[in-house]
Amino acid sequence: MSSDATDREAADALRAGQLVILPTETVYGLAADAASPDAVAAIFEAKGRPRFNPLIAHVADAVEAERIGVFDDRARALAAAFWPGPLTLVVPVRDRDRVCDLARAGLDSVAIRVPGHRRARDVIAAFGGPVVAPSANRSGRPSPTTYADAVEETGSSAAAAIDGGDCAVGVESTVVSVLDGRVALLRPGAVTRAEIEALVGPVDTAGEGHRSPGRLTLHYAPDAPVRIEAMQALDGEILLGFGPGSGEARWSLSPTGDLREAAANLFRHLREADREHPVGIAVAPVPDHGLGEAINDRLRRAAGFVG
Ligand code: TXA
Ligand code: MG
Repeated sequence: MSSDATDREAADALRAGQLVILPTETVYGLAADAASPDAVAAIFEAKGRPRFNPLIAHVADAVEAERIGVFDDRARALAAAFWPGPLTLVVPVRDRDRVCDLARAGLDSVAIRVPGHRRARDVIAAFGGPVVAPSANRSGRPSPTTYADAVEETGSSAAAAIDGGDCAVGVESTVVSVLDGRVALLRPGAVTRAEIEALVGPVDTAGEGHRSPGRLTLHYAPDAPVRIEAMQALDGEILLGFGPGSGEARWSLSPTGDLREAAANLFRHLREADREHPVGIAVAPVPDHGLGEAINDRLRRAAGFVG
């Protein structure tokens, strides 16, 4: 693997049908040419990901996005407000070849985002087409938010890797579907429910007619069992604290109770705690508003509550 590759080396690898570890502002991705069924198959293989779970097409700008998907007024308003940034839009597919069937898991819709990380956009622009990039973890594990974690998870399957520093957001993009005139929140993320509703009105929640196949499986889980809403650590557990009082502990998602900081630390702390092979990882309560909805969603899944 070529580590700390240039944009050009990464684009060449994508063109050759190889996989590339790509930094984004949310989490590290494992990228491939979206048009190539062989390259996309290599992603499912590398992650051990079930093929019913579709991938997100990453593009350099909204013009590219409209080439592969059909945007109505509300999808356009969301794209204009939050791209580049941590929002994925699921819309009807326009071009079935640029994002191949396997990448979409055979669906008539396509998930698209314009990443906020400059290096990601530069590589995509140098490549010249949509790039699918699931989180660079092996399926079911916490997403990598540092270069080292990404290389540890799937580096052996990648031809090139780009070090873009630590991910600023730390949880995966908000996924919103805009289909048949309905808007639904399929996965909470850094773009909050309130921010979306301020723009397009009330949104449905996943399950009410909209589905996200990837949400059906156990996810984000370290090896140690995770216990949420914990007031204190039991014997042998590591406690991930949150807010005042957690500052002196080694493990705090945010000593000041800042949700952005907690999101940025979440997966890194789960991974670091897991490396100490504790009996379990207990996590203090995190408020459910704003970015807290995404943090609690990931924590519930890490703790084994699915659906
Ligand atoms: O922040 C992110 O989105 C990261 C970075 C690397 O960009 N990527 C990411 O990809 O989280 P992944 O593959 O781990 O998650 C994609 C999610 C899955 O839950 C999948 O089921 C859903 O998006 N998805 C993709 N296409 C869909 C579609 N057509 N309809 C409904 N859900 C879809
Ligand atoms: Mg993932």
